[in-house]
Amino acid sequence: MSSLEEKKKRAKTSIVRTVFPGSTNHYDTLFGGNALKWMDEVAFITATRFGRSKFVTVSTDRIDFNTPIPEGHFVELIGEIGKVGKSSVVVEVSVYLEEMYSEYRNLAVKGEFTFVAIGENRRPVALFSEDDKNSFNLN
Ligand SMILES: CC(C)(COP(=O)(O)OP(=O)(O)OC[C@H]1O[C@@H](n2cnc3c(N)ncnc32)[C@H](O)[C@@H]1OP(=O)(O)O)[C@@H](O)C(=O)NCCC(=O)NCCS
Repeated sequence: MSSLEEKKKRAKTSIVRTVFPGSTNHYDTLFGGNALKWMDEVAFITATRFGRSKFVTVSTDRIDFNTPIPEGHFVELIGEIGKVGKSSVVVEVSVYLEEMYSEYRNLAVKGEFTFVAIGENRRPVALFSEDDKNSFNLN
């Protein structure tokens, strides 16, 4: 079994999307609801690649929309594993605005999503065996 840090590293996920007119608001910038959906998706993929379990979103922490993202830009959404619990995992999501025709790039949105691994009865299940937890130094 690989170390926890290696597992976290392998789970890091990046999705690049284009802000087309269909995903904007009436100010021609990315609609917040679409940003949240894309963030939840990249976070879900990150959690699943980390735990290789069924996960559901249980909570979103504070989400900061720092900069509007105009139509006709790329956005790169990056999910990284943060705190790992018994059945839960926190995914930190960063959204970078990127101009299409220059190297300009800026951190536009940041937030955290917590996922819980569930079993067949949709109740929480442990992410790791006792042996794995000992080798990972998890409580
Ligand atoms: C996820 C779900 C099964 C958890 O059930 P629960 O009875 O709250 O679970 P528990 O109290 O046993 O907690 C299980 C873990 O979730 C964490 N957790 C529960 N509620 C949480 C919350 N609001 N925020 C952060 N973590 C939370 C607990 O800290 C615990 O973590 P740990 O195992 O790492 O220590 C249940 O809340 C659920 O089904 N929610 C709906 C999920 C869903 O449909 N999501 C789709 C988006 S709407």
